[in-house]
Amino acid sequence: MGSTYERKQRNTAAPCPARWRERLAAALAVLCFAAPAAAGDLERKQARRIHDRLTGVPPTAAVLSAMEDRIVAGDAVGAALLAIDPASNPRASSFYNVTLKNFATPWTNEAQSVFDPLNDYSATVIGMIRDEVPFNTLLSADLVYVGAGGLSGVSAYSPASNAHYEDLEARNIDLSDPANLVADSQSLRNGIPAAGVAGVMTTRAAAQAFFIDGTNRAMFRFTVLNHLCNDLEQLKDTTRPADRIRQDVSRSPGGDSRIYLNSCIGCHAGMDPMTQAFAYHDWDKTQGRMVYTPGQVRPKYLINADNFEYGYVTTDDRWDNYWRAGQNAVLGWSASLPGGGNGAASLGEELANSQAFAACQARKAYRTVCLNEPDQARLDTLVGVLTGQNYNMKQVFAVAATQCMGN
Ligand code: HEC
Repeated sequence: MGSTYERKQRNTAAPCPARWRERLAAALAVLCFAAPAAAGDLERKQARRIHDRLTGVPPTAAVLSAMEDRIVAGDAVGAALLAIDPASNPRASSFYNVTLKNFATPWTNEAQSVFDPLNDYSATVIGMIRDEVPFNTLLSADLVYVGAGGLSGVSAYSPASNAHYEDLEARNIDLSDPANLVADSQSLRNGIPAAGVAGVMTTRAAAQAFFIDGTNRAMFRFTVLNHLCNDLEQLKDTTRPADRIRQDVSRSPGGDSRIYLNSCIGCHAGMDPMTQAFAYHDWDKTQGRMVYTPGQVRPKYLINADNFEYGYVTTDDRWDNYWRAGQNAVLGWSASLPGGGNGAASLGEELANSQAFAACQARKAYRTVCLNEPDQARLDTLVGVLTGQNYNMKQVFAVAATQCMGN
């Protein structure tokens, strides 16, 4: 459609013809009702804001004009995509090196700090979004993004060190360039059987943060917190069967079984049978890397057996999702998955194909570019984009940026 026609439409503040709405993203509808002082003025401001929000830096004059043209032509999402396309925008790299790095970094450490260095977890998130890898494989894919071989001043990738990623960051390597940051097989690079790999959950950074010490429940808690946007406190359900709660959880803490029944069960009944998926995973402090011992349950699953000797004894990595029933059914578990399995990857699929996961990613993307919380309509739009376009997070970022481009 011609931009002349659209300019006229906008200036007379005519409502959107129905066929436009069919073809354009919902966020664009805002445009059609706007009546700017002068054609192009508003679009230029919008283009600048989209660029600023996505990349954190102002656009070049040429990119600003190209984005403006797209907005005038009714394609605000196209303008946003242009801003984060390194082939079209010399400043697109800031979206990958800065915006997405800050987006992912809090998920990679227990303190949820944004200031941690680049690591295999954050780099993999950046690569997946850049390459439009379906984001519902985030917690299951046999994938890790690494720096290309031969980058000057960058030490070799190692499953026992983060130096490679710190070098990529210190050298300001352009992560938007597919020649610099490349997809690789996590199992091959780390010498771990494919059955022991589960997307970002089995990256070195995640293992160091969440398999360290403890009982591996932290991996479950933080994955749910970061990727389903729910802390366990919100998910407590004391009505679930308690048959898989491990021995280390006292059934009468402080001598009072009511506390167990009213509190402890709420989390542990659902969490323990899912955390069993990581029964063979551990963080080895001496080696400084994740270890995986197929068939051999880690000692941490069997500690403090005396707390309740009739508790559940873990013998394998079989997990089951007791939260498919009860109040946590609202998380929207996928009807096409069985709700149980062996190992971390199938648990990752279970989590990442829930509606809560999709809504969480959409919400986080919106927060990142719009700097506040989405209302329900905007959130619904973004979830629709994510699930309707093969979990393409790049598209979600682009649409989110148009939702707060101003009018
Ligand atoms: C709000 C959810 C929740 C409730 C309620 C809860 N727990 Fe836990 N529990 C956790 C999480 C999460 C972990 C893992 C902590 C970590 O490693 O960060 C954990 C870990 C544990 C551990 C292992 C020790 C450790 O640090 O890993 C024991 C033992 C335990 N809980 C017992 C209990 C008892 C007894 C109660 C009731 C008084 C209880 N829990 C109530 C969530 C909960």
